Amino acid sequence: MSNESSKITNQHTVWHEPTVFRQDREKLNKHKSVILWFTGLSAAGKSTLAHALEDYLHKQDIRTFVLDGDNIRRGLCKDLGFSDADREENIRRIGEVSKLLLDAGVFVMTAFISPFRKDRQIARELVAPGDFIEIYCKAPLETCEERDPKGLYKKARAGEIPEFTGISSPYEEPENPELVIDTGTKTVDDCVSEIIDYLKQQQIFT
Ligand code: ADX
Repeated sequence: MSNESSKITNQHTVWHEPTVFRQDREKLNKHKSVILWFTGLSAAGKSTLAHALEDYLHKQDIRTFVLDGDNIRRGLCKDLGFSDADREENIRRIGEVSKLLLDAGVFVMTAFISPFRKDRQIARELVAPGDFIEIYCKAPLETCEERDPKGLYKKARAGEIPEFTGISSPYEEPENPELVIDTGTKTVDDCVSEIIDYLKQQQIFT
């Protein structure tokens, strides 16, 4: 759909104000909602951490949901590839879905490479300050490449996967993330504990 035709479609929509709001849902849930935005190279540990944290939070009776790059690309974003423009659209959609889940009162965790600063910034600005917590899963490329759990780095080096992040497509490190987690050397449990400590410090949950 061209921009022109999507503009025309939007022109005749009118915002319908809900009667149940995020605060009402948070009250019902007995916890706040927030977006934890995990970013980092493939195999840096984003999904592993997001799911490990979800396990913990779920046991604390917190309503959670993980949006995971590999999974979402099989459904909502299955029409997208890995060009810069497709990654931008991927992250735009995830930003919007995360915002909906935030309004739904859910503790959202997103695990996407999200390689471009400007796209992460756009996602951040969709919501209020404090609602978006960027967590940089920092692991050196060599470590991710050594791990290579899906064998994709090997294929990328062999030229079988074009535009592979870290190899033939850039990753822009966050300049000011709320949290930097050293996923290259620390254990999953230690990384999860660091995140939990931060969330408690920020009084996102008790
Ligand atoms: S993003 O760049 O648009 O944020 P996303 O997180 O959705 O990427 O998807 C990344 C996952 O897709 C990787 O973990 C990997 O399994 C797979 N993948 C397939 N092709 C590529 C590629 N060219 N670059 C990076 N990841 C790829």
